[in-house]
Order: sequence, then structure tokens, then C-alpha cells
Amino acid sequence: MSCRIAFLISGSGSNLQALLDACAEGRIEGRPVLVLSNRADAYGLERARRAGVPTATIEHTDFAQRADFDAALAQVLQEHRPDLVVLAGFMRILTPEFVQQFEGRLLNIHPSLLPRYPGLNTHQRALEAGDRETGATVHFVTEQLDGGPAVLQARVPILPGDNAQLLAARVLEAEHKIYPRAVSWFASGRLQLKADQAWLDGQPLPPTGQAHQSGSQPC
Ligand code: GRF
Repeated sequence: MSCRIAFLISGSGSNLQALLDACAEGRIEGRPVLVLSNRADAYGLERARRAGVPTATIEHTDFAQRADFDAALAQVLQEHRPDLVVLAGFMRILTPEFVQQFEGRLLNIHPSLLPRYPGLNTHQRALEAGDRETGATVHFVTEQLDGGPAVLQARVPILPGDNAQLLAARVLEAEHKIYPRAVSWFASGRLQLKADQAWLDGQPLPPTGQAHQSGSQPC
């Protein structure tokens, strides 16, 4: 039976698009059941409509308390009975209560080589530190911000003359390769979170996750 996947977005949704395409092409054994945004103007909602995926918007600005927003989010998600919830550019910090409800079936992608640079402005921070490479990491979401067990990591070179915008575009290309691959592992039952560690094909993954080989197939 194919994995029921719900997506949380806030913006452009280019990762969402890569994932929807991978589902449509059978590279992910999954069925997108919902795209939920905290912003009504998120372009990702349009991408979902074009793909025929149900959408919903819950504006975080309608809630005075983060916990109430998260409770509303969880309720709508649960109605769609997801096996997996994929954060695809979802720019809100989730409460521990929310994370606990979906623990083990909540994935995120972060634009850095975690554990380096959790939080925002990752590209600027990598440039300012004089790093020679950066990247992206798919990880399970736990209560620690951008701190859950890593699943898959892609390295991206930092080139002379780079600025945050150029670097973001190069990293985003890598994100579009690794996110469908990691989600396909989960959807086909190969990837699990056990005892605060990510496991692939019955083996624990290293702390930085599996290393993505550039040039390899996306899934
Ligand atoms: C990506 O860089 C993702 O890693 C970060 O936000 C960006 C979202 O881009 N969390 P998009 O909405 O998928 O185009």
C-alpha cells in the first residue's frame, strides 16, 4: 500500500515540486494526500493544485499562541491520516507536543551540513566563516531545532565570488536530489527512526546521515 504523505510549506515549494514529481513518476511509492501552508500566498499551494493534491491553509497569524496554531495544524493533518509528514520549506518552529504526535514520521530538509548552522541564514553564515563547502541535510524532526537524526547529506562547494544568493541556488539544486531520495526510502519502508537514531535497511546511519554521491540517481 502506498505511503500517505502530507506536506507542510510556507513558500515557493520547489522542494515540494521535486517530491510531487517523484511521486507522480513512481520514484516515491507515495500518495500526496495534503499540502498545508501557514501562508495563503505560498506559491507551493499553486503547485499542489496543479498536481491535483488537496490543499489547506492555516495562517499562524490567526493564533495568539504557538501551541494553538500547532494544535490546529495537527488536527487538519490527522484528518488526512498521513504515514509521513514532510516539512518542505515550512518556516515555523514546531512545539514538542506537535513533534511527539508525529515522531518517527516527520522529516525536514535543512540547507546546511548539520550539525553546522542550525536555524536561519545558513548560507551567509557559511560564507562568513570562510567555509569551503556547505550543503543540505535531510533529517528526522525531534524536539531539538534542526537537531534530529540525519538521514542523507549532500555536500556543495563554495566557489570564489559566491554570495548567499548564488550559494542558496546551488544548495537548492542538491536539495531537490536528496529529498526525493530520502522520502522514497521512508515510503518503501527502508528508513526508520529507532531509539533516536536513523536506520536504513536495518543498519544505523552515521551521525551526519548517508553521504549523497553527486551524479547518483535521485532515488
Ligand atoms: C529550502 O532551502 C529549505 O531547505 C529551507 O527553505 C527552503 C525552501 O525552499 N528550509 P522551497 O520552498 O522548497 O523552494
